[in-house]
Amino acid sequence: MSFIEFKNVCKMYPGSKVNTVDNFNLNIEEKEFIAFVGPSGCGKSTTLRMMAGFEEITGGELYIDGKKVNDVAPRDRGIAMVFQNYALYPHMTVEKNIGYGLKNMKMPAEEIKKKVDWAIHILGLEEYRYRKPKNLSGGQRQRVALGRAIVKNQKLFLMDEPLSNLDAKLRVSMRTEISKLHRELGATTVYVTHDQVEAMTMADRIVIMKDGIVQQVGKPMELYDHPVNQFVAGFIGSPQMNFFDVDVNGNNVRFADGSNITLSAATAEKLKGHQGMMTLGIRGEDIKVIGPDRKADADTENVLTAVITDTEVMGNENNLYFSFGGCQAVARVSKYEIAQIGDRISFTFVPSKLHFFDKDTGINFMEME
Ligand SMILES: Nc1ncnc2c1ncn2[C@@H]1O[C@H](COP(=O)(O)OP(=O)(O)OP(=O)(O)O)[C@@H](O)[C@H]1O
Ligand SMILES: [Mg+2]
Repeated sequence: MSFIEFKNVCKMYPGSKVNTVDNFNLNIEEKEFIAFVGPSGCGKSTTLRMMAGFEEITGGELYIDGKKVNDVAPRDRGIAMVFQNYALYPHMTVEKNIGYGLKNMKMPAEEIKKKVDWAIHILGLEEYRYRKPKNLSGGQRQRVALGRAIVKNQKLFLMDEPLSNLDAKLRVSMRTEISKLHRELGATTVYVTHDQVEAMTMADRIVIMKDGIVQQVGKPMELYDHPVNQFVAGFIGSPQMNFFDVDVNGNNVRFADGSNITLSAATAEKLKGHQGMMTLGIRGEDIKVIGPDRKADADTENVLTAVITDTEVMGNENNLYFSFGGCQAVARVSKYEIAQIGDRISFTFVPSKLHFFDKDTGINFMEME
């Protein structure tokens, strides 16, 4: 049995006629770091709160460590949680806030001090040790909330957007800190975030949700390279995957502006007979811009052209925006391949990186069993 098992877990809020979380099925192994991602309102926090016991499970079963916990009180679930809207005790200093839970657990004062010192150090809160929450910034408060959870030494951490109030730099360093902490403590962690970069960099596996329904569960690169549908393809990756309306006939792919490419036999076979209007998807880094001297590795048969409408110089790489096939597209190129607005570029799509999505269901034909 897995450490955590969701079996058709549902949540219907009072007064609602539909499930906010619908038939959620997932097994989580001990020590795994799982990220829940998805757009605002898709049910991430609700799912986490059902795990913590703060929200009633209205359908299905949830098991933690082999025990059905549907009716188990939060304090008996062996969980430490960092909430999206964490509430600190306003009259207590940072160190008191962090140690309060331990005091409640009747831990000896000396041990509490050791743990609080450790958390304060890890979270860089030394300067603020004796301050009260009202005199802290949002990011500092968030770190105190994190401290309160990590000192508890529980087997399961639930974190709901714990870094959302931090500035970009602190966010990146806290990301590394949480990953390190996870390796050291080995506690199973479920981490909710909007931020797909956080999910990609921290998680062993990612759960992508939309409208209360799990879309795909997988390792970060599985989701990136093999999205099962257009929603997952568009959600993971920045800039977003390019999508084009195309008409597929045999090996021929026709774009809305009349441009054509020919599919290799291998790619055409992966389409499994699907024909007609569909959506072609390709990531920016899989669009190869061809210099005037035509690089040898280019697929010379399927060269397309477009005019650059915008550029983003990122430092380490460049994003080249252009209109093609009736859609806006972006190619990610190396920092050495800068083009100017108005330049006409030639490019090819890396044949093995093409995705084809059903127009109605969004299913990725290339990833069907
Ligand atoms: N107590 C409640 N009663 C009724 N509806 C609720 C309640 N709490 C949340 N909801 C609704 O359930 C849906 C899912 O909310 P939830 O907080 O789980 O989303 P989320 O994925 O965490 O979003 P965000 O990224 O914005 O935090 C939302 O449409 C929300 O309005
Ligand atoms: Mg939320």
